[in-house]
Amino acid sequence: MNYQHIFHAGNHADVLKHAVLLELLAALSAKPSPWFVLDTHAGAGSHELAGNLEADSGIARLWGQHHPALERYLTAVRGHNGDGKLRRYPGSPLLIAGALRDDDRLACCEIQPDPAAALKALFRNETRVGVHQRDGYAAIKALLPPAEKRGVVLIDPPYETQQQEFDTILATLRDGLTRWPQGIFALWYPIKRRRTLLPFFRRVAALPIKSALLTELLVRPDDSPLRLNGSGMLLLNPPWRLDHALAPILGALRDGLTEPGGSIRLEWLKPPA
Ligand SMILES: C[S@@+](CC[C@H](N)C(=O)[O-])C[C@H]1O[C@@H](n2cnc3c(N)ncnc32)[C@H](O)[C@@H]1O
Repeated sequence: MNYQHIFHAGNHADVLKHAVLLELLAALSAKPSPWFVLDTHAGAGSHELAGNLEADSGIARLWGQHHPALERYLTAVRGHNGDGKLRRYPGSPLLIAGALRDDDRLACCEIQPDPAAALKALFRNETRVGVHQRDGYAAIKALLPPAEKRGVVLIDPPYETQQQEFDTILATLRDGLTRWPQGIFALWYPIKRRRTLLPFFRRVAALPIKSALLTELLVRPDDSPLRLNGSGMLLLNPPWRLDHALAPILGALRDGLTEPGGSIRLEWLKPPA
């Protein structure tokens, strides 16, 4: 496995993923009962940004700008940069941990030894967070359903195996939904040429789900199969009216991060009944 998230931390794809994720967790926190998150592909949790050019097209472009709709996300990133200078970028485990209330819980899976060790060190004094050095797909079998009735499975793989990854994801979603039918499943996916994703979307729409929402940010036209032109977060069984909360966030990302020809999408793949 070659993937190292440190080279991509804070890029436009991380910004979309993390802004959507934090809004989703805020919607869950609107009710008092506890929630659980399984982060199947967690990464190291915190990333040094020095020399990271990809962040220039993401968090660095938003830093210091005024975007009221992104305030929840930007506040969370600022919380890891105490002196106001953008030096570090928090990964999904740290962002989720920052949103936990007293009885909420996070389980992180990371297969590679170095990031898994970094995560264990990061959360050594945090009883609400469990870190597992293991295959996050297989962890779905072991960790679902959780005792908490509500929550999210975040699936954020490196897509090193390309098409095969989508087959694995579909099998995982099918299994996860069988174990936890009311769970929310949030899948990050890369966009090079968007039309190549359509067969996958058709198969997702046929899963036993109440609803499915697509949120996407294309920072430039999807006319090259060689570049990461954008990305999406697919949300299965999202909370009621999350689409309304996400609309201004996506608008701010379009205003802040797109080049000419870029676009956003907020669309029901399967609308709620
Ligand atoms: C895109 S990064 C995760 C980024 C993180 N979710 C975030 O938002 O900050 C993908 C991570 O998955 C890890 N990984 C790859 N295959 C895995 C697997 N089968 N199970 C668990 N982790 C895996 C990689 O080592 C890498 O750290």
